[in-house]
Amino acid sequence: MSTIAVIGTGYVGLTTGAYLAHLGHQVTCADIFEEKVARLRKGDVPILEAGLEELVTEGLAAGRLDFVVGAAGAVEDAEFVFLCVQTPQGEDGSADLTYIREAAAEIGERLRPEAIVINKSTVPVGSTRVVEQTLGRDDVFVVSNPEFLREGSAVYDCLHPDRIVIGSDDQAAAMRVAALFESLKAPLVITDPASAETIKYASNAFLATKVSYVNALANVCEAVGADVREVVLGMGYDKRIGFEFLKPGPGWGGSCFPKDTRAMVRIAEDAGYDFGLLRGVITVNDEQYERMTAKVERMLDVPVDGASIAVWGLTFKARTDDLRDSPSVEVVRRLQAKGASIKAYDPAISGPRPSLEGIEVLDDPYAVCEGADVLVVLTEWDEFRWLDFAKVAGLMRAARLVDTRNLLEPAAVRRRGFTYDGLGRA
Ligand code: UDX
Repeated sequence: MSTIAVIGTGYVGLTTGAYLAHLGHQVTCADIFEEKVARLRKGDVPILEAGLEELVTEGLAAGRLDFVVGAAGAVEDAEFVFLCVQTPQGEDGSADLTYIREAAAEIGERLRPEAIVINKSTVPVGSTRVVEQTLGRDDVFVVSNPEFLREGSAVYDCLHPDRIVIGSDDQAAAMRVAALFESLKAPLVITDPASAETIKYASNAFLATKVSYVNALANVCEAVGADVREVVLGMGYDKRIGFEFLKPGPGWGGSCFPKDTRAMVRIAEDAGYDFGLLRGVITVNDEQYERMTAKVERMLDVPVDGASIAVWGLTFKARTDDLRDSPSVEVVRRLQAKGASIKAYDPAISGPRPSLEGIEVLDDPYAVCEGADVLVVLTEWDEFRWLDFAKVAGLMRAARLVDTRNLLEPAAVRRRGFTYDGLGRA
């Protein structure tokens, strides 16, 4: 059992704190927002994340998990301090290290000797050094340990990691960090800090590349009369390619891919390399929003200006309530700009959200379809499959459907009277 402090209680910090407590460690999580800390102390988790509330409740009840306001109060007894603060995108595409620096400056004097500060935030190559300098201590270690959890399955991903990456110049410090995760039995990659930091960006940029590839491929399939799902099936059995991250959609979004791909381009640029391949990946993604908008326009039998559009799905993917850089919202905004009026439903969204201002959000998937000229599926929530499509068709002015996630069975919805268009299939 080790004593751990976690700074920042966002998706990464809160999940990290909760699962480390679950593994038997003594964990104190710190955040700057008093109200958030008060809620968390009562086991009230402010984000939608499968299994997280249960883990937090378990940790609180066992006395292994606590929440405090401010990093300073969390670190004094800690053998390990995880930095899990956000690294927003700076104006030039690079990652903004303000919060990391602030946290490091705040804890520097308070760390006990031999403590290990672990960077879990996604930070540019070289940031381990930045943290070392900001801490201003030569008796503590700074180690990079990037996090690969996906929103929506964060707890599962943390407890079943494909690998654990630890970047350190000090082998003994790396082994102490590795010991924290011993019970997870995951492959360990122990490397230098710069390589560890690069692994995170390289992984996310590669996954974004796969999605952009399949989105571009879907366009080709549409043009040549092939079915992208069959093509991906035939490709995926090749173990070198695999089936993962080859589902076409309205583009990739969320809190990581857009930020990390741009940061990777920027990192390369600063180092004198033009990462044209990755710039292309980003361009394909930006164009995808416009393609989806055009698809909806083509499906309409009335002009888009003045059309009434029903939308299912606003979050950047299913099983999360996160709207950050959501392709769904991006497409909705473009349709609005062309004069369409939108009514949207999302299973995870109720009540007003700043990023949805100006979009009418109802809490019933059928209600949004009343009188609509077209229905657009933008997020792949499984429950959409099981709705009553005969009823939906009856409610709409015109039974027309654009399925940007290939979520629905075309034959089944056509039988209910719909004109259907998916992605990359005739
Ligand atoms: C991602 C990485 O997967 C994770 O390892 C990292 O730690 C953080 O960034 P996340 O942002 O939660 O996780 O979402 P992810 O499931 O990777 O999806 C990213 C985007 O790609 C979403 O918009 C999703 O809809 C899209 N996507 C993903 C597709 O369009 N098709 C796919 O086949 C997979």
